[in-house]
Amino acid sequence: MARKPGFNTLAAHAGELADPHGAVSPPIYQTSTFAFPTVEEGARRAASYSEAFYTRWANPTVRLAEQRVAALEGAEACVLTASGMAAVSVAVLSVVRAGDHVVCAECVYSGTFELFGRVLPRLGIQTTFVDPTDPENYARALRPNTRLVYVETPANPVLAITDIRAVAELSRAAGAVCVADNTFATPYNTQPLALGVDVVVHSATKYLGGHHHLVLGAVAGPASFLPGWREQLRVFGGCADPFSAWLLLTGIQTVGLRVERQNATARALAEFLRRHPRVERVYYPGLADHPGHDVARRQMRGFGGVLSFEVAGGLEAGRRVVERLRWMKLAVSLGGVHSLVTHAASTTHVHVPREERLRAGISDGLIRVAVGIEDPEDLLEDLDQALA
Ligand SMILES: Cc1ncc(COP(=O)(O)O)c(C=O)c1O
Repeated sequence: MARKPGFNTLAAHAGELADPHGAVSPPIYQTSTFAFPTVEEGARRAASYSEAFYTRWANPTVRLAEQRVAALEGAEACVLTASGMAAVSVAVLSVVRAGDHVVCAECVYSGTFELFGRVLPRLGIQTTFVDPTDPENYARALRPNTRLVYVETPANPVLAITDIRAVAELSRAAGAVCVADNTFATPYNTQPLALGVDVVVHSATKYLGGHHHLVLGAVAGPASFLPGWREQLRVFGGCADPFSAWLLLTGIQTVGLRVERQNATARALAEFLRRHPRVERVYYPGLADHPGHDVARRQMRGFGGVLSFEVAGGLEAGRRVVERLRWMKLAVSLGGVHSLVTHAASTTHVHVPREERLRAGISDGLIRVAVGIEDPEDLLEDLDQALA
């Protein structure tokens, strides 16, 4: 019997797009609409939601990228969306109705936090936010009307780890749909569907695209969810455009290679920073003293490319370090070939009251590093000179 293809083989080949010329790199169907020879053919394509009809419904380049992401996540189905937040919205709004309740990790991505905390209450959907590091907190928050359980692991800013299998199990027992944001982990490190989660979402802007050159999202899971996702895309219109889908197809081919490298580099930087006299604390799930290390070891192939550390000297020291880095750019986002750093207290969270920021685990000197694919020695040297 033929071997089941490995991750990198799927990343390069999965999906089908018939091309009469045999193009090895897939064609970009940069068109908003498609002509059909007969009325019947048009009606057939409209009903299929997967064949070329109108790009907000389906487009061959986008479709190929959807098949590729589905293969990497071990999913039956996938839809590509205009951004990661569009993916979160599609996954959530296709499930919840007015009167429903959601249980969500308190440290999810800020846009997701806003969706559950501020926008959905206006539609009659209430959310309980929990510390996700103990599955018991999810269990305690469940109500008879809980329809959705939301997980994101590892999560900002201290790379909090959620036991995916445990939370998925209790979600299933409660009759809820469990959605996991797998952006930080990537399907190379973790496959949430295999751990019992119902639906996976991605900011494909990050590791899947991998080059800081596109904004896209993806939702993956059982085919039974597909009509609901497609309805959201058709009605709210957050569909992916063909050119971005093509950029994703180009980038995703190397996701396994990049993430393998990023796992190793992040670990080396974490070890280096832990020994550095100007660093007070390092957060990386690959370190044995990280509170989520044991769970991470069970559910992750590698520990990811993001780490955080607290530089001694507080706000001013944090600001100086990120401004002095040479290779690591001061920019939000993560998952691309270039290393990026953020110092939340002086940039993304500068307008958040200090007490609130500290409650969220963002101390004055906390710096997040999202490693790229540069030579680890250069990144180590860069951090060393900036800390000096
Ligand atoms: C974990 C996570 N989920 C979702 C998003 C939203 O993705 P996008 O910016 O592609 O809309 C982000 C963006 O930073 C993220 O980090």
